[in-house]
Amino acid sequence: MYLASTSRVHELTPEERAVYSTLKTESLPEHVAIIMDGNGRWAGHRSLKRFLGHQQGAKSVQLVTETASRIGLPWLTLYAFSLENNLRRPKTEVNFLMRLLKSYLENNVQRMMDNNVRIRYIGRIHELPNEVQDKMAWAADTTSANTGTTLTLALNYGGRIEIVDAFRALAAEIRHKHFAPERISEADISRHLYTAHMPDPDLLIRTSGEMRISNYLLWQIAYTEIYVTERLWPDFRGTHLLEAIADFQRRERRFGGLSDSVGFTDEEAERVKIAAS
Ligand code: FPP
Repeated sequence: MYLASTSRVHELTPEERAVYSTLKTESLPEHVAIIMDGNGRWAGHRSLKRFLGHQQGAKSVQLVTETASRIGLPWLTLYAFSLENNLRRPKTEVNFLMRLLKSYLENNVQRMMDNNVRIRYIGRIHELPNEVQDKMAWAADTTSANTGTTLTLALNYGGRIEIVDAFRALAAEIRHKHFAPERISEADISRHLYTAHMPDPDLLIRTSGEMRISNYLLWQIAYTEIYVTERLWPDFRGTHLLEAIADFQRRERRFGGLSDSVGFTDEEAERVKIAAS
């Protein structure tokens, strides 16, 4: 949770401001992750080719990022391209998504600068085409000194392969430093994940109504609140991000614990006869 002290709330649209005014600014999420789904269906509903849905989805990426930066959200992590998308989608669609990513970066780095947004990536980036990697590195370098929202794009990303990569790195470290496997802690695994530098997401949003995690941030979402909306990603805007945050703030996060009023004393527990099973 963070205090929205450096926010640019006055830049929100009137519609966004109406939702924002219902939020508790002292308990905004620190990290929001999004599974951007429904580009193909959005296009299909309009009898358009799928790639036009992706193109419209890229617009949502920029608009939602700008709203996030205006409310001072520190971390926004978007699932832009999974390892499975890379392996299982037709080559033409994969090539289009790569071109779209390149042009998105070319056309939006200036807007990221204007909004104090820093861009980063997680995933098996080294397996992407070289010219895409070059453009990604350029955008990350150009925006690296920005101190507002960190926009992280998950690209060629899979949660299980991330854990495999972490185990490989940890195994190499164990071999090098000769430390006993019993000493491995959750923190040791976390610091070898692609997300080592980030807090875990407080809120995970999935668009287009599917009730699936789709191999996204498997380790990191252990205690994340999940919000699913029927809205398709190309129709998702800043207002909808704020509505998801409002819903999140109505939840009670217990992290495996209990809310204050429902505990019991040892004396109360001792009075209960536990039936033999
Ligand atoms: C899911 O829609 C979305 C993707 C596979 C890719 C997400 C890509 C974008 C939002 C646009 C590009 C992003 C950037 C950062 C430039 P789908 O095709 O699976 O939709 P469907 O389930 O309706 O077919």
